[in-house]
Amino acid sequence: MSFTLEAGQVVGLMGDNGAGKSTLVKMIAGNFRPSEGTMRLEGKEIVMHRPVEARQHGIEIVHQDLALCNNLTAAANVFLGRELRRGIGPLKVLDYKTMYRRAGEIFKELKSETRPRDLVKQMSGGQRQAVAIARTMLSEAKIVLMDEPTAAISVRQVAEVLNLIRELRDRGIAVVLISHRMPDVFTVADRVIVMRRGRKVADKAIAASSPEEVTGLITGAIEQV
Ligand SMILES: Nc1ncnc2c1ncn2[C@@H]1O[C@H](COP(=O)(O)OP(=O)(O)OP(=O)(O)O)[C@@H](O)[C@H]1O
Ligand SMILES: [Mg+2]
Repeated sequence: MSFTLEAGQVVGLMGDNGAGKSTLVKMIAGNFRPSEGTMRLEGKEIVMHRPVEARQHGIEIVHQDLALCNNLTAAANVFLGRELRRGIGPLKVLDYKTMYRRAGEIFKELKSETRPRDLVKQMSGGQRQAVAIARTMLSEAKIVLMDEPTAAISVRQVAEVLNLIRELRDRGIAVVLISHRMPDVFTVADRVIVMRRGRKVADKAIAASSPEEVTGLITGAIEQV
């Protein structure tokens, strides 16, 4: 499949279980090597061997299973693998103070009520999403890939997560939103891409489509548009 992402645009990526959505975003995030084809970022071809390389390009992913550490605080999860240190040489220690402060700022920017010192294991699904999304804002992300961020949370929390997506979009980030939930995609996305059995069967403006058409494309009742 071939497609383009635009800065400040939300693309809904839809398709049935096993259609290849997660596999596709994992390739963009450097988790999987594509067996063929090319990826370009701002016109330049990029080749990634590891997720850290995707991050260096400004590509961040929120995985389907979130991949958070339940026994740690919100702030520690935001900085997981990118911990701040202070001091010099062998005397370097983790700079918790700055990490708590910076995490607090990011939650505020996202208009999330999450508190940096709260333990993730005590959080609701929506709050966990906020922590995972805050992780993507540590560096200057250009692309944020979100795999089913609203699958396992309550109605009220869905609205919060959709707001977080709008915050990312308003910062000029290109967002890919994988979702099975038609209302989410039709509320927040500018474009919808539908995959079926590993192929793209539709790529169009939300305003030019409808939930009925997308359902037909997902199931195969409609071949391709
Ligand atoms: N390199 C590969 N070659 C062949 N099959 C693959 C390869 N990589 C992944 N698959 C298969 O492709 C399918 C796509 O899975 P994927 O997790 O991407 O689906 P999904 O659209 O995210 O589904 P869900 O909605 O259930 O999360 C899976 O059956 C997976 O085992
Ligand atoms: Mg998936």
